[in-house]
Amino acid sequence: MDAHSTDKTPNRRPVRSFVLREGRLTPAQDRAFRELWPLHGVDWTPGAQIDFAATFGSEKPVVLEIGFGNGDSLAEMAAADLNRNWLGIEVHRPGVGHLLLEIERRGLSNLKVMRHDAVEVLTQGIAAASLDAVQLFFPDPWPKRRHHKRRILSPQLIQLLAKVIRPGGVFHAATDWEPYAEQMLEILDSATDCFESTAGVGRYAPRPATRPLTKFEQRGERLGHPVHDLLYRRR
Ligand SMILES: C[S@@+](CC[C@H](N)C(=O)[O-])C[C@H]1O[C@@H](n2cnc3c(N)ncnc32)[C@H](O)[C@@H]1O
Repeated sequence: MDAHSTDKTPNRRPVRSFVLREGRLTPAQDRAFRELWPLHGVDWTPGAQIDFAATFGSEKPVVLEIGFGNGDSLAEMAAADLNRNWLGIEVHRPGVGHLLLEIERRGLSNLKVMRHDAVEVLTQGIAAASLDAVQLFFPDPWPKRRHHKRRILSPQLIQLLAKVIRPGGVFHAATDWEPYAEQMLEILDSATDCFESTAGVGRYAPRPATRPLTKFEQRGERLGHPVHDLLYRRR
């Protein structure tokens, strides 16, 4: 079954976790796609397995971030941890352009960018047990009940993550949407055969000092939303 969907009807389009808003590129972002994509972008053909050593030119452990938004916090994490390679996947073009510019500004060689549906990439493009960590910060909360099926963190996603994260590797999620946080906790705590909570069953984790504030988090803070981190180790 497609990991996007719980719908068993064949030939239906998968339910995706995003609705593509094209958004205008700034002239700088436009230049980034022309000049920086060949340096820092990863082209991918669905079905092909990504060769991390060839992509990064080194064999360091790889951290993958799903839905990095404008990528500022991802660039900060990659700059602070040069001993690992970082791969950001985002569908929103202006966000991808923004991160390409940030990679150039910081002179990073350990951060690469993909513009794709991360669920597709995880399903078809990542070798088993090849990731050191996966992070998912402030995924779209899809608050309306009829949209809950679009929430990216689902039991199907956790099964995919269990396949691609190495034993001992980490899945780190954060959200400022309380009902989604509760749902995440329930889903992850139920996956006891593959993941173990670092904070204890039923508990959120303290926010690691290594996680910078993200753009969406700052917006949530202004609205007074409490933030929850969830940190699970692959068994
Ligand atoms: C609410 S925003 C949060 C962005 C960022 N993590 C932050 O905290 O500022 C969620 C992001 O996830 C992206 N997204 C949603 N589903 C995705 C998918 N399946 N693959 C890649 N990106 C996705 C959206 O385009 C959006 O930019």
